[in-house]
Parts: sequence; C-alpha cells; structure tokens
Amino acid sequence: MKITNLKTNHIENPIGFDLGKPSFSFIVTETTAKKQVAARIEVSKDDEFNSVIFDSGKSKEIDSLAFQPSIDLEPRTRYYWRVTVWADSGEISTSEVAYFETAKIDESWKGSWITPNLDSDIHPVLIKKFNIEKTIKSARFYVCGLGFYEININDKKCGDEYLSPNLNAYDKWLQYQTYDITNELKLGKNEVEILLGAGMYKGRFGLDRKENIYGDKFALLCEMVINFEDGESLIIKSDESWKVRKSKILASGIYDGEVYDDTFIDSTDYGVKKIALGFDRLKARLSLPVKIKEKLKPVEIIKTPKGETVLDLGQNMVGWLEFKVRAEKGTEINLQYGEILQEGNFYRDNLQSAKAEFKYISDGTEKLVRPHFTYYGFRYVKVSGLDEEINKDDFTGCVIYSDMETTGHIETSNELINRFFLNVLWGQKGNFLDVPTDCPQRDERLGWTGDAQVFSGTASFNMDTFAFFNKYVYDIAREQENRNGLVPNIVPVAGTNVSCSSGWSDVATIIPWTIYVQYGDKKILEQQFESMKAWVDYIKREDDNSFSTRLWTTGFQLGDWLALDGENPESFAGGTEESFIASAYYYYSANIVAKAAKVLKKEDIFKEYKALADEIKGAIREEYFTSTGRLALKNQTAYILAIYMDLVPEGKKDRVVKDLRERFKLDKNYLKTGFIGTPYICRALSKSGCNDLAYKILLNKDYPSWLYAVTMGATTVWERWNSVLPDGKISGTHMNSLNHYAYGSVVEWMYRYMAGINPIEDKPGFRYVKLEPKPHCSFKYVNMSYKSPVGIYETKWEIDNEGKLKFYFNIPFNAEAKVVLPDARFDKVMVNGQKLINGAQEGDNVVVELNSGTYEFCYEPTISYIKYYNIDFSLEELIKNEETKKILEETLPVMLPHGMIEKIGDKSIRELSNMPFFPVSSELLEKLDEKLEKIKVVFE
Ligand code: BGC
Repeated sequence: MKITNLKTNHIENPIGFDLGKPSFSFIVTETTAKKQVAARIEVSKDDEFNSVIFDSGKSKEIDSLAFQPSIDLEPRTRYYWRVTVWADSGEISTSEVAYFETAKIDESWKGSWITPNLDSDIHPVLIKKFNIEKTIKSARFYVCGLGFYEININDKKCGDEYLSPNLNAYDKWLQYQTYDITNELKLGKNEVEILLGAGMYKGRFGLDRKENIYGDKFALLCEMVINFEDGESLIIKSDESWKVRKSKILASGIYDGEVYDDTFIDSTDYGVKKIALGFDRLKARLSLPVKIKEKLKPVEIIKTPKGETVLDLGQNMVGWLEFKVRAEKGTEINLQYGEILQEGNFYRDNLQSAKAEFKYISDGTEKLVRPHFTYYGFRYVKVSGLDEEINKDDFTGCVIYSDMETTGHIETSNELINRFFLNVLWGQKGNFLDVPTDCPQRDERLGWTGDAQVFSGTASFNMDTFAFFNKYVYDIAREQENRNGLVPNIVPVAGTNVSCSSGWSDVATIIPWTIYVQYGDKKILEQQFESMKAWVDYIKREDDNSFSTRLWTTGFQLGDWLALDGENPESFAGGTEESFIASAYYYYSANIVAKAAKVLKKEDIFKEYKALADEIKGAIREEYFTSTGRLALKNQTAYILAIYMDLVPEGKKDRVVKDLRERFKLDKNYLKTGFIGTPYICRALSKSGCNDLAYKILLNKDYPSWLYAVTMGATTVWERWNSVLPDGKISGTHMNSLNHYAYGSVVEWMYRYMAGINPIEDKPGFRYVKLEPKPHCSFKYVNMSYKSPVGIYETKWEIDNEGKLKFYFNIPFNAEAKVVLPDARFDKVMVNGQKLINGAQEGDNVVVELNSGTYEFCYEPTISYIKYYNIDFSLEELIKNEETKKILEETLPVMLPHGMIEKIGDKSIRELSNMPFFPVSSELLEKLDEKLEKIKVVFE
C-alpha cells in the first residue's frame, strides 16, 4: 500500500500561495484493500517531525479528498505533513513527507514600489548588487513586477515559470510570488537583475486593444530575506538604491510579440524612484505557475511557393520557439507565427491586428534565444533573416501552460475520434494560461466566461483544474464588486466595460459547483458562495424590475453564440430565443445556489433559492410548453436545454423527445448549435434514450460536425464549424481562431456517457460513482482512464465479433461504484469468469454495486450491438476484385478453407448473391470503403 499525490489546496508542495485554511488531499494506491478504516495526519515545522504542531491521531473522520487541520499559519514558514492510513486489510502505510510554505501573510512590506527614471515605453532592467559574507541557511525572494517580470540571479534565470505574475484583475488585487533562492545565492558578490515587460498590465490588451489598461508605468516591489546559519538575517528590498539600465528588449506585448536587440549595451544608470501603488492590493499568489510543460521539434521545413521559409511544428501549440543562433553581429532574424498555410504560403490574417512576431538582432555569439514577455498560438513559423540553410534541430517549440496534472485519457477504435480527443486536450493546453482564454493567437486572448463555463467539465476530467479554477473564480468574485453582483462576460475585465449575459455570467455558479462535484472539497463553495448568490440576485433584480415574471427577458444577451440556425445574418446569436436561454440559465443558476447552500448547511438560503428555482421552472413551463407538452420553440438548442436542465413538464418527456428526434430528422441529423447548445447536445440525447443519435452526430464527418475539422487536418478545435472550408481556404479573417476550445466540451459526454464515468453530487469527488457506459456499434472498443481525486478509474468496453459486450472496470481504493450494464439479462452476465451473483435486473439493464477492485463483465446483449449496413454492391463483384475479396476473407467469420466465402451469418453465398443488397458490419464497410469509392450506404 502506498500513499501518493499529497496536495495542499490541490497543489503539490506549494510555496508562497495564499492558502486560507489549508486543505490536504491524498491518494492510496498499490493495495488490494478496499477501504480506509482510519487515518492520521501530522503537521510539523521540521521534516523529521520533532516539532509537531498538529496531530489528528488515528481518526475515522479523515477524508482523503479534503482535510482541514486546525492550525494557525505563521508568515514565511514551511510546514511539513504526512499521512498514515489504516486499511480494512490490516495494512498500514505512512506517506512520504509533503510540505507547504506560507508567504508574508499579513506582514507589512519593507520594500517600496519603484519605477525606473525612463520614458514609460522603454523596457528596463532593474539591478541590485550585494555581498554575502556568511553561510546561508535559507533565502526567499518575494516579488511583484508589473506588467511581467523575469528574474536573473547571478546571470541565471530564477525559477522555472514564465510571464509572472500573469493575469488577474490588477485593479482589484496584485499577486506576488515567492522563490526559494537558497541555492541561487553565493558567498561574496551577488547580482540580481529584474527584467520588466509590458504584459497585459500596460501593453496592448483587451477588447479595445488599448495600452495602459491597468497602469502606464513599469513597477517593481520585492523583498529578499536571507537567513544565515548564525541566526541573523539580511533583507534586500526594492528601494531607491536600485540601479536601472535600458533593456535589450526594445518592445514587448502579448499580441505583437517582442523585439530583442542583443547588440544593444547600456551601462548608464538612470536610477529609480518610488511610485505610489500602495500595498492594499497585494496578496500572495493564487495563480499556478505557467511553465514549459512540453517541447516539440519541427516536423518539416517548408519552402513555400512565395519562397518563404516556414517551420511546421506539426501541432497547433501555444508558447514560442527557442532557437540556436549562429549569425553575424547585427543580423536581424524575424520569426512570424501563424496557424495555417494558405495555398501553401505563410498566413496570419486571422490573427487580426496581432503582429505575433519575434525580432532578434544577433550580437554575433552562438546562443539559444527566446522571447521573454509574449507568447504565440501557432503551428507554422516563418523564419527570415537567416540566409544559410536552417537546421530543424536548432528550433524547439516550447509549449507553455498552467502547471496542471493531466488526469484523463480516452482512446477508441476510431482514429478520427482519437485525434479529436487530442485536439481538445491541445485546446486546453493552449488556452489554460493562468486565465481560461477564448483563444491564444489573435488580438483577443481574453477570459471569456462562457467559453470557460462550457468547457470546465471537460477540462476537469482532462486535468486537475482545482487550483486553476480556484484562482479564476476568485477573480470573478472580485470583478462583481462594485457591479452589484453582475458578472462581466470577460474576467478579468481588462479595460472595456463589458456587460453580462446568460450562459457567460453563469460561470459564477457553474464552475464552483463543477469543481466541488469533481473534487469533493467544499472549500471552493465556501469561498465563492457570496459570488454565486450575488449573480442570481442580480438576475432576480432584473426580473423584479420587469414585473417579476420569473423569466429573464431584459438586457443584452449573447444567445446561442455562433449557432447555425439564426435568421439574422448580421447576428452571431443563433436562432434560439434569447429569453428562453436566459430563463433556463436563471433557473439553472438559482438551483445551483440552492444546492450549494444545502452543502454548506445554510438551510434558510437553501429554501429560498429552491423556491425561486421552482418558480422559474414553473414560469418557463407556462411560457414555453403547451398543455400537451409541445415546446413552443423549434430549435435544437431549445430542446437540448429543456432536456438537459430538466425543464420539461412532468409526464411530457416522451413527447418532447419525439419532437427532438423530428427536429434532427429535419436537420438530416446534423447539429446546428452554437456555444450554448453544443456542450449539452450529446448529453441531452443520451440522457433521453437517443444514444444512437448522439453517436451519429458525434461521428458526422462533414460540415457541420466535430470531425469535419479533424478530416481537414486540424490539430486543435476551431472557433467556427467551418473555420476552414473544404478547399482549404479560411472562411474569414474576423473571429476565426483555429484554437478555440468551446466546442471541445463534447468530450465531457465522452467521459460521462461513452466511457460512462459519472460523479454523484451527493457523494462528490468520485468517492462513489455511477459507471454506466453506453456502448454503440459504431465503435469496436473504448478505453478510458481518469485519475480522480480518489484514485484511478478505468472503464473499457468492447463489442467482439459475435456481438458480445465486454466491460472492464477499475475502481480505486476507498471508492464505490454503481455499475449499470446496458441491455443485459442478469442470468447471462459473467463477471471475472464467473456467473454474476450480486446485482439486480432493472428494466433492460443489470445493476451491480461494487467496491474497489478490477472487474471484467461479459455477456450477450439483449439487442444487437453489431451494426449492419446494406451496401449497394453485389457480392459477386466484390469477390471478383482481388483486393476486396481479400478483405472479405479476412473479415467475415465463415469462409471456405480455400478462400471462397461460403456463407455470411445464416445466409448462404447463393442466397446472398441473388439479393440486391447484402448486410455487412461497420468494420467491414470501413475497410471496403477505403478500397471502393462506389459503396453507397442505403441503410438509415
Ligand atoms: C470570443 C468568444 C466569446 C465571444 C462572445 C468572441 O470574440 O472569441 O469565444 O465567447 O466573443 O462575444
């Protein structure tokens, strides 16, 4: 038995974070034991546990998902903790030691805010030299630099994070970071250089693409605390003694890139002065560090028809290229970043006004070069200024994103779906840079709340997002201040006074609830409760000011953004009535507030918001459903929201589902949905017995569909269903990102329905789950693994050649699952090679309660899971063709020894040859399809 994944506030060994009341979590693995009987958590000030400050003792109450020890934290202190677990098998194990370290907490700052005596558009380097004469025991650096900063200590970059302090509502709060620099300092002379960049604080940013949104001056505040072995300490702080020179970085900005002149040498000291930014806004960091998480090598150097030299990274990625320069002094090298080629040439018009380039002027020495204060969303990089042949190996794509652990993976028998899953994962990597952004490449890159909201479920299966979203929702709450609870459509607001909208602003309720259910730590609800409630109160005031109809009918709405069923070509809002969407979300958010109040034991508030939610639901039913259950709106998204959000009147579900199928029939089983309908489309279908339709829509390959982009070679998810047209031309330059994750939110359906793993709200954090995969004959197998907060779950299913269903489940230690086997007869189900004894027949399904362990189920389903197509091709013709004959021989089960097909299923070859059509499985069809373009599916 092993105890792993010790995290404090869901971060591994955090240093310098604002932890509030710390919350510990851990995972038990490598055991055949089923349950935790007791656990003990000890917290100490030393790693040998001689100065223990908290000891829970052996306790039955310790929850591995979240345990809050009652300790009072001191500033600038490292705490060590470990866990011992007693299991029901008698095993006992103690974990390795984990730690967390506090920042300054409420200590006042000794340093002053300083700014260089330079024009505010000149990038500075702030310098401090000092001597160390005694042996250092420990040293820490507390720093906030605005806009971005990077520290070099004795000519070496300090820490492994980039673009600090990253982005938050700077006008409300400023984050400082803590660095352990014990090993960076040395006896004797030391030199600290801090480079400052414009960042989002003062560089061009926001919907207005303006400069100086949050401030117009570079600024630095820092404090270095050096503790010596002899017990004394030295503090080096930002003050007027710091020196300043002009930086080699001549310009920087996240949209436009960076200009770096390595020939520029400045030895003048311009001095610094104090700047009155105040200290009230300062707060220890909540943001996870943004790190280089992966490196990619270019797959190809392309010479374009225009004669350009373009590197292809093979993947739309976010970060920058690092490259080795061997060029004469004064050589200007220019890298331009783009997402797609057009007619084989470099292209970047869809980045709108973002220049997205890196200009580097060489000083003649050979070195590795990279930008410091910008990032790019790209697959292709145009390189100019290097006349000799460039070498692929000299370039490396540095992929940056917030330091989150990858937790989920899905792999299936369908290669296109596998690529789609990776595209969605890459979309998350590219857009989870401290703030969940809409896109990473053009002049936008903003925290659009709707995009984040719809994707948060998928994101939280893919990666451990607790700490990431915890910071984002904190920003949401701060942006609601002085806005009467209104949640802006963009957070952080970044300049423009944006309004709110349903679907977008509901981020305030949806993300905290999603994170609570996923991770089982109610700390996030405690932190966000007022913000969640304030948002619903805002809508209610709007409602009360317009006759208290309990519908939301006022104000600006983004609607079903980018849906394809809009009547007004000028509008992006789609065709679903905005007030319906707004009222549906009004209900949904009010209901979440009620549920959160219940979790937090706020009984009165629970009752109040439950009553409000019921009133809204009643009003929606009255306004939008006829007495026989007909939905008055005819859009896909309207049906989807009604089903997904449980708005359909009692007893009328069948009617609505029938109408929904009719709707899809009219739309030839293609989606027409935008940002609001798309995330829930497959969930609403599978939930209402239309699993077949969910798979059909998922697997559509032509426009509009998820796989269309995949068949067009996309390596990320596009903003529009047709961002690129079938002839390879980009469909427009306005709002056309090739890395927009919103539509990737269908991956949540893949986890929950295709693979079947569902957390239960009453027992959050995957302590108890419902495992209910919904296999479909369009896949031969699906494999899913998810490292939940409790441990690793796996579900796999397979449809074998005879149509038998096989399931494999792994349930982690101290977890339980209700397994639902579809279309099963209890007496036919085998588990781990034995007849099933426990469990029950529930309608068409067999239901089994299981605890930790691995289980293999196998049975013949009561309905066929093999898909047969009738193909418009005679068998005789197929047999005449050598290639297709071979495929038939390999694929069909019953054959004559010498290769002639005798019969298929129970039909003889003679009978089949006389039939105009004959049935084949989907697998065979696919293989034949590759060889014979003429095959026409006439079934369905
Ligand atoms: C963004 C979207 C966003 C939308 C809403 C766009 O420019 O890229 O993803 O949600 O605006 O207006």
